[in-house]
Amino acid sequence: MRIMKSNLRLGFIGSGKMAEAIISGLLRKKLIKPKKIIACGPQELRAKDLQKRFRVKAMIDNLSAVESEIVILSVKPQSMARVCRQIKGKIAVESLVISIAAGIPLEFLKAELEHDRIVRAMPNTPGSIGKGITGWTCTPEVSAEQKSQVANLLESLGVQIFMDDEKKLDMVTAVSGTGPAYVFLFMEAFINAAVEIGLSRDEAKQLVLETIIGSAEYIKEFPQKHLAHLRDEVTSPAGTTAAALYELEKAGFRTAIADAINAAYQRSIKLGGK
Ligand SMILES: NC(=O)c1ccc[n+]([C@@H]2O[C@H](COP(=O)([O-])OP(=O)(O)OC[C@H]3O[C@@H](n4cnc5c(N)ncnc54)[C@H](OP(=O)(O)O)[C@@H]3O)[C@@H](O)[C@H]2O)c1
Repeated sequence: MRIMKSNLRLGFIGSGKMAEAIISGLLRKKLIKPKKIIACGPQELRAKDLQKRFRVKAMIDNLSAVESEIVILSVKPQSMARVCRQIKGKIAVESLVISIAAGIPLEFLKAELEHDRIVRAMPNTPGSIGKGITGWTCTPEVSAEQKSQVANLLESLGVQIFMDDEKKLDMVTAVSGTGPAYVFLFMEAFINAAVEIGLSRDEAKQLVLETIIGSAEYIKEFPQKHLAHLRDEVTSPAGTTAAALYELEKAGFRTAIADAINAAYQRSIKLGGK
């Protein structure tokens, strides 16, 4: 069901980077008319900027958003309790609340908002160009129609994947929510190393970027092939790849990644106060 056709209003509380990513995705895909979107945040300048660039309504009073049929909570996790106190009991029973805050559990939102129909979603930044992935789950009170609206809305950011168990949302946060940062760090190190052995920065950046995009697309093309098999295919005995892989294994590459993801997972659990 197209959000636009159903004539729903969409209210954002918190109009930062992620709110902007969702707004631009929805408008790019023409899923909703700009005048149906209300973006609320504390900065007057930001409100004016959003209004000018997207033609949406932008307000500094959060209560302007709560009359919408879909209310998106897009503030930082640290601001969530304050926002909940402010809008508690003010959302219509049939309206849907979508929280994209890392770590904040459905149970907390249900209690703090005195509201039952809640979605917890974890998008990522590539969503701002429609190339993201969002994992999400919801309370049992969310209707089938609302679930399809959520899927539709989240597809404006890229791929969406429904999780049947809320515990997995902290895992999604650690993997794809935080994931772009791991890739950016890896690319930065990769480019710096390429410069160190003599390539120009521009050459290095292009070589690294295309290698990463090409490798990811190659994996997508052959989903049945195990990654270890693909790696074996490019590793000849006593060759350059074997020499490089030996160094990566010796430096604890896999363990560093496992530890990093586990640290993000534990932090997400802690943010939720569990
Ligand atoms: N960025 C990511 O990669 C990512 C990925 C997945 C999920 N998320 C989640 O998305 C949420 C938003 O993240 P973001 O990156 O968009 O952060 P952000 O750019 O800092 O946006 C948060 C916005 O909320 C505003 N705000 C602060 N207190 C408020 C209040 N009481 N009422 C209304 N608005 C308030 C902030 O205004 P001021 O700047 O004036 O304080 C800011 O514009 C977070 O919960 C995060 O966990 C982020």
